Amino acid sequence: MEMKSVIKRFNRYFPGTPRVFMAPGRVNLIGEHTDYNEGFVLPMALEYRAEVAVSPRADRRVRVRSQNLDESITFSLNENERKRNHWSDYTAGVARMLELSGFRLPGADLLIESMVPVGAGLSSSAALEVASALALLSTVGGELSLTDLALLAQRAENEFVGMNCGIMDQFISVHGERDHALFLDCRSLEYQQVPLRSDQVSVIICNTRVKHKLGVSEYNTRRKECEEGVDLLKSYYPDITALRDLSPEEFAQSEGMLPEVIGRRCRHVVTEDQRVLESVRALREDDLARFGDLMNRSHESLRDDYEVSCRELDIMVDLARKIPGCLGARMTGGGFGGCTVNLVEAASVDAFQSAIRSAYREETGLTAEIYLSAPARGAHEVIPGLKL
Ligand code: GLA
Repeated sequence: MEMKSVIKRFNRYFPGTPRVFMAPGRVNLIGEHTDYNEGFVLPMALEYRAEVAVSPRADRRVRVRSQNLDESITFSLNENERKRNHWSDYTAGVARMLELSGFRLPGADLLIESMVPVGAGLSSSAALEVASALALLSTVGGELSLTDLALLAQRAENEFVGMNCGIMDQFISVHGERDHALFLDCRSLEYQQVPLRSDQVSVIICNTRVKHKLGVSEYNTRRKECEEGVDLLKSYYPDITALRDLSPEEFAQSEGMLPEVIGRRCRHVVTEDQRVLESVRALREDDLARFGDLMNRSHESLRDDYEVSCRELDIMVDLARKIPGCLGARMTGGGFGGCTVNLVEAASVDAFQSAIRSAYREETGLTAEIYLSAPARGAHEVIPGLKL
């Protein structure tokens, strides 16, 4: 990272020598719509990241500048800041949550630069929240464990921004590790780093370049449908508190008592949890073909049972699977547009990219955007001269 130039840019707007903090975006390899059902996920952090340069102020004001958008806003920590439906909500939200957690912030100047594509389902917002939280925390010399930092950022998203997301995005943004995917139990928050062999395979992310508006409302509807499913299933299995508590076999026995749509939603979650567990096993056994197959099945379940895919995602996935060297392809993230994630043999990476680009253009008239990233390290302070 060109640390010097970030500081130079900071000094164009603010005085002092800032500290710089970064947090990555993420791609989820498998385990979709399972986090808020207390289940399992397997995301990895990306080399695409948000960086926040920060210097404290003494007047309880926060001045934030987005380098990407060439826009600044100022707010006071003394006023009960409300969301503005603006990029600054992520920073204002974590500032509020830090204050609510007992950190009295002095005020700060912040310069934000992000290379995480926005609106692509790669968690640009989690990256911004986590990097902002670390930056603001540094102004009080405060400390939080990485997991508490992720929980605080999630709370900002839930309570301030108003997006009822699970813990996956913020958690991987803090706990990511180079060359590893992260296997997370979203109930206990226990996790394991799972090696991903980049000499054998690459993760290729393809952006459909569509984002259907339905996203947020459908997300909340899916959450409600899952809760309704749990309530109904309790008459059969009184001890369950989340879909996570049922194996696919147990679920199959009780599925008949559920209304059709609720049944399909629950079936996705229950089988997806199982696919995550099998994926971790496959990766540990170096069985990449098996892992790819599980990714394919995840997509089918998201498309048919959970119904969060869309035409462009389905086209992109179908095209990818026909390209030699593609071991698996699925939609990733919340759905209704955004990206697919593809597991591609290392030797086929270049050919895959040009093939998917031209096939997708031919089929849809749209130009896909492609991102390549090895699994990257989670949030940390960027120290000048230190390569991390
Ligand atoms: C969004 C949410 C996550 C998760 C995914 C679906 O990215 O922010 O918490 O629920 O959707 O897996």
